Amino acid sequence: MTGSDIFKSIASAFLPVFMLFAVSACSEEGRPVKGFVLPQGDVAQGEQVFVDFNCHGCHAIPDMEFPDTEFTPPFVLEIGGEVYRVKNYGELLTAVVNPDHIISPKYIAMLEKADREAVISPMPYYGEEMTVAELIDLVEFLHGQYSKLQPKYYRGYYLTK
Ligand code: HEC
Repeated sequence: MTGSDIFKSIASAFLPVFMLFAVSACSEEGRPVKGFVLPQGDVAQGEQVFVDFNCHGCHAIPDMEFPDTEFTPPFVLEIGGEVYRVKNYGELLTAVVNPDHIISPKYIAMLEKADREAVISPMPYYGEEMTVAELIDLVEFLHGQYSKLQPKYYRGYYLTK
């Protein structure tokens, strides 16, 4: 196999994934999100927002410790850490302002089989209490919590990089 053959086979393996992105980017309920830009947030402030809003009551982040919360959650959903696909900024923002938009597959997997259909997110809606500045810092903080694990082997191909 020449270098370009390898490239072609990798490209064709990923093509359905690219197409999926292209389709979902255009059909986002008829409201394309291209050109959506928020200013840079402050990571330390964002961590404070995470604690102030008791996000750590339901979420753990690897290698981070948070103070105790007033309530005991029925579950802990880990966010951040080493993942194969890093959540992008827009996805994290959406997860906070619109929790029902996409229900995390990790959470669905935690539910009893019978409860897996028609799931609504138990995550509160923060739109009434959170300022935009807090949101910007929070998402900046969350984004920094994800690091990418390189798959060594993907769909039959070794990926060297
Ligand atoms: C009452 C529990 C609860 C609280 C409090 C809560 N969440 Fe969540 N969160 C969830 C659940 C359950 C999910 C999975 C369902 C979903 O995708 O909405 C989730 C999903 C998420 C996701 C997407 C995770 C993924 O892998 O797709 C992010 C990011 C997130 N929460 C951040 C936050 C932040 C930031 C706060 C605080 C402002 C917060 N959460 C507060 C329960 C909670």
